[in-house]
Amino acid sequence: MKEEHQPQLQQHHHLHHNHQRKIAVFARKKFTRPTAYAIFLLLSYTLGYLSAPSCNPQRFLIPRTPKVADTTTTTTRNTELDHYSFTTSQCGDPIPPKFVRQTILDRVFNGTSPYDNFPPPYVSPLLRRKRIKGWGSNGAVFENLIRKVKPRTIIEVGTFLGASALHMAGLIRQLGLDETQILCVDDFRGWPNFRDRFRDIKMLNGDVMLLYQFMQNVVNLNATESVVFMPFSSGSTLEKLCEWGVFGDLIEVDAGHDFHSAWSDINRAYKILRRPGGVIFGHDYFTSADNKGVRRAVNMFARVHGLRVQLDGQHWVLDSA
Ligand SMILES: C[S@@+](CC[C@H](N)C(=O)[O-])C[C@H]1O[C@@H](n2cnc3c(N)ncnc32)[C@H](O)[C@@H]1O
Repeated sequence: MKEEHQPQLQQHHHLHHNHQRKIAVFARKKFTRPTAYAIFLLLSYTLGYLSAPSCNPQRFLIPRTPKVADTTTTTTRNTELDHYSFTTSQCGDPIPPKFVRQTILDRVFNGTSPYDNFPPPYVSPLLRRKRIKGWGSNGAVFENLIRKVKPRTIIEVGTFLGASALHMAGLIRQLGLDETQILCVDDFRGWPNFRDRFRDIKMLNGDVMLLYQFMQNVVNLNATESVVFMPFSSGSTLEKLCEWGVFGDLIEVDAGHDFHSAWSDINRAYKILRRPGGVIFGHDYFTSADNKGVRRAVNMFARVHGLRVQLDGQHWVLDSA
């Protein structure tokens, strides 16, 4: 094949050479030296412009050093690590369980009990004597874990109307754990459309009566001495508990069920779990909607910390023992 092309190639070179020679003769005849030089410069500039990458106004703004790529890589790596790091790196020294209730009253309620003079007269007509609704809130897991751990401090993240908290209050009474405190963490806002299902929970100038109805349920079941609460977001509350050295022997995580909420609550809660021996647990491991939420967060957390996920009904359990 190659040889067949040889004569053609030679002919082509010959023609090309002739062509170049003609141009040179023509240029010598027609142009003076300075004119040719000027044309040469003009041609070089035009060729350079045409052969540049397609015109992008931003290319003039992007620094030519590799800084951008480097920074992006570093940021990506840091972001990945950030999923495992939360604001408080070290919790305060654990305070003895017998001081937990008073610490909350002092730090959150100016040293008074929020149950004093409850309910205020303007709220009273908006509440039902008792209105409790929960989800798996009386499951066997509560009794199983309370019997096993014999907790002095129980922390519940996600309380709603107090169904599970009040079930635990009944259990600790029944089991003679009179010193045990149940600390309920909830912003008592529910979720944006929760009143579609709970129309009877009244609203006053846009403020839903969840906190007050929960308190009413606690008062009604005579549990004010064992149930205390912090009506704020789970993230800020768990961070503060860590800072104040308030640790739980048993921690239930049942607030936001999307992956990011569950992931951050579990991570923060685990920091204030008394270890070894403390147990952290929560609901909705099996709900299909939680396949990508609670369950993924629990599994990922267990994997990262080398823990085994145990199951009790619909509940997941992580035992630090
Ligand atoms: C499923 S309910 C809790 C049910 C309760 N454990 C029971 O069994 O009766 C979830 C609760 O979490 C609360 N919640 C959701 N996200 C929260 C957050 N980021 N901070 C505080 N509370 C939150 C909601 O207000 C709601 O009351």
